[in-house]
Amino acid sequence: MRDPLLDFCFRRNDTKKDMPEKNNLMDKIVSLAKRRGFVYPGSEIYGGLKGTWDYGPLGAELKFNIKQEWWKTMVRERDDVVGLSTSILMNPKVWEASGHTAGFTDPLIECKICHQRFRADQEDIIEEHEKFHSKEGKKADWTEAKKFNLLVEAKIGVVEGEKITVYLRGEITQGVHVNFKNILNSSRLKIPFGIAQIGKAFRNEITPGNFTYRSIEFEQMELQYYVKPDEKESMRQYEFWKNLRLDWYKSLGIKPEKLRLREHEKNELAHYARAAWDIEYNAPFGWKECEGVHHRGDWDLARHQEFSGQDMSYFDEESKEKFIPWVIETSGGVDRAMLFFLIDAYAEEGERVILKLNPKIAPYKVAVFPLLANKPRLVELARKIYDDLKKDFMVAWDERGNIGKRYFSQDEIGTPWCVTVDFDSLEKDDVTVRDRDTMKQERIKIGDLKSYFREQINK
Ligand code: GAP
Repeated sequence: MRDPLLDFCFRRNDTKKDMPEKNNLMDKIVSLAKRRGFVYPGSEIYGGLKGTWDYGPLGAELKFNIKQEWWKTMVRERDDVVGLSTSILMNPKVWEASGHTAGFTDPLIECKICHQRFRADQEDIIEEHEKFHSKEGKKADWTEAKKFNLLVEAKIGVVEGEKITVYLRGEITQGVHVNFKNILNSSRLKIPFGIAQIGKAFRNEITPGNFTYRSIEFEQMELQYYVKPDEKESMRQYEFWKNLRLDWYKSLGIKPEKLRLREHEKNELAHYARAAWDIEYNAPFGWKECEGVHHRGDWDLARHQEFSGQDMSYFDEESKEKFIPWVIETSGGVDRAMLFFLIDAYAEEGERVILKLNPKIAPYKVAVFPLLANKPRLVELARKIYDDLKKDFMVAWDERGNIGKRYFSQDEIGTPWCVTVDFDSLEKDDVTVRDRDTMKQERIKIGDLKSYFREQINK
């Protein structure tokens, strides 16, 4: 009898298996992420819990910045999109209506030799497993594929025996659709308009792996954009959002040649989708989905109307028509975006390891150093600059070791600029600003630092 807890633990073995030795870059990223406080294995002191990750001080900051950039582009800068934040736990009927209890499945197969379970459509992982057994002189044999539901169950209620089963949301989408009428009634939005949300989702993944790429608990950032039920108009909107989302990744520094759009084959489409394109990133473990752009038609609102008995239609004042709107969805993963930003930014130049993160998302924007830690006047002025910059930016302080080591240490976590306070600073009111990517240094007046950094960040 296999211990189910053991199945979900021992992350270290799991990480090794997920990342073939040739995957040196991933090893480096995983190790940097742990060492410098971006990402730690979840529940590590208890042996881990497969598919869960904890974000350290720098990871939390990076993730926060990614979400903030997304919210800025998708909500704040638009007149036609509003934000929403809905519960993770919902009435279980929601998931019947959305089709998740019946159709949110992956094909599962089991190895008859060692009873490990895999997703039948992940050919590379299956091939690797077959090779593993063939090295032992055995030929892998598989069970027939069966449907495995990905919804994660939880029990709520205070009386034992009367607890009800609910689901941790499998996508953040449904919280938006069930509030469609609330939003309409509490705003002046007119179709076309969108509702955006960022939040946690949970999936009982058969094969979590590739670091944070496929996790059991993860965050999504989604837009549900409601349009007229019209083929031409919906496809026009679909093209618009697809391109806008692709451009967003590029605008935050991902190399364009590492990104592509891929259309789903008919047999790949999720149960709710009429059409789907993935934005993919060329990761060290292959071209992988970063974000999905889906044409959901009237699937969600029509099903909620049917299952709740509530009218989910929209009345168009201009045309005097009543209809169930169609939905164009953009659905990205925060954890995946962060992983791909890290991979894309990683560079080695001589002895230097650099994360060339776009300043907008870099955890620290600036690091401030006194040239020498044992010179009180230098420390005092550096502290003053640090305290002042902190009011506007995320700033690091470092006074250990020599300046070269401090630069290297900041390069490795992606800090775009380092400010050094030296003896000249005391006389001339200026400091050295050193650029992460070019390593060029320039003297900037202390009073001009904030506007200089603001300008550089918003370039
Ligand atoms: N509402 C539509 C939806 O959820 P999806 O393609 O299943 O669509 C959207 O998921 C995005 O969520 C993916 O592109 C990915 O970035 C992220 N995502 C999905 N499953 C994930 C997992 N197990 N771990 C990390 N991120 C995941």
